[in-house]
Amino acid sequence: MDAREMKVKAAAAALAYVEDGMKLGIGTGSTAEEFVRLLAEKVHGGLRVEGVPTSERTARLCLELGVSLKSLDELPELDLTIDGADEVDANLTLVKGGGGALLREKIVAAASKQVIVIADESKVVETLGAFPLPIEINAFGQVATRIAIEKAASRLGLAGSLSMRKSGEDIFMTDGGHYILDASFGRIPDAEALSAELNLIPGVVEHGLFIHMASLAIIAGPAGARTLKAK
Ligand code: A5P
Repeated sequence: MDAREMKVKAAAAALAYVEDGMKLGIGTGSTAEEFVRLLAEKVHGGLRVEGVPTSERTARLCLELGVSLKSLDELPELDLTIDGADEVDANLTLVKGGGGALLREKIVAAASKQVIVIADESKVVETLGAFPLPIEINAFGQVATRIAIEKAASRLGLAGSLSMRKSGEDIFMTDGGHYILDASFGRIPDAEALSAELNLIPGVVEHGLFIHMASLAIIAGPAGARTLKAK
């Protein structure tokens, strides 16, 4: 089974949690896109859902495939969000934002009664941090913000480079018009402490640590999909 087939398997298993009439947060990334494709088939078969996309990219795919969308302002309380992740640990703490959508993803997840993560086995880790942590920052004062992040990390004994995300030659710009610094800490033994430190920095718009947000993770491997529950 190749990587794409595993994503499809996780997405298909998540579809079982989607009920008729639900207000649904729809994630971003290649795994979430497989979910959108399967969801669209169900919608064409008569399933009624109202989706709130977590990125412009997801919105485009939904519209292309005929999944009807609303904004989060129109539907501020969602039943369920299904989204991918870059890393998942045993507590269902996540690193997200590899696709640059972490801010909207976190806002949508926070507005949802339930969040289900879909991923393949390669995303499951013992300790978060091998995948660089995306930190969305305001363009104003970006150098001061970078220094503040380095100092905060060093207070927690974390070191590693911060790299400005690029899109070709240009600085990558999020849907919200911000920049992303990818922090290669290697290991993040205490995600809550790092999250608290980052949240204190005014130039940090949001970071990719999702803590106590997901209640279920559907993890697909060659032998099929398994479900992890938040402890
Ligand atoms: C988007 O910003 C991310 O949070 C994605 O959910 C995450 O990067 C997983 O993407 P893939 O499913 O493409 O690995």
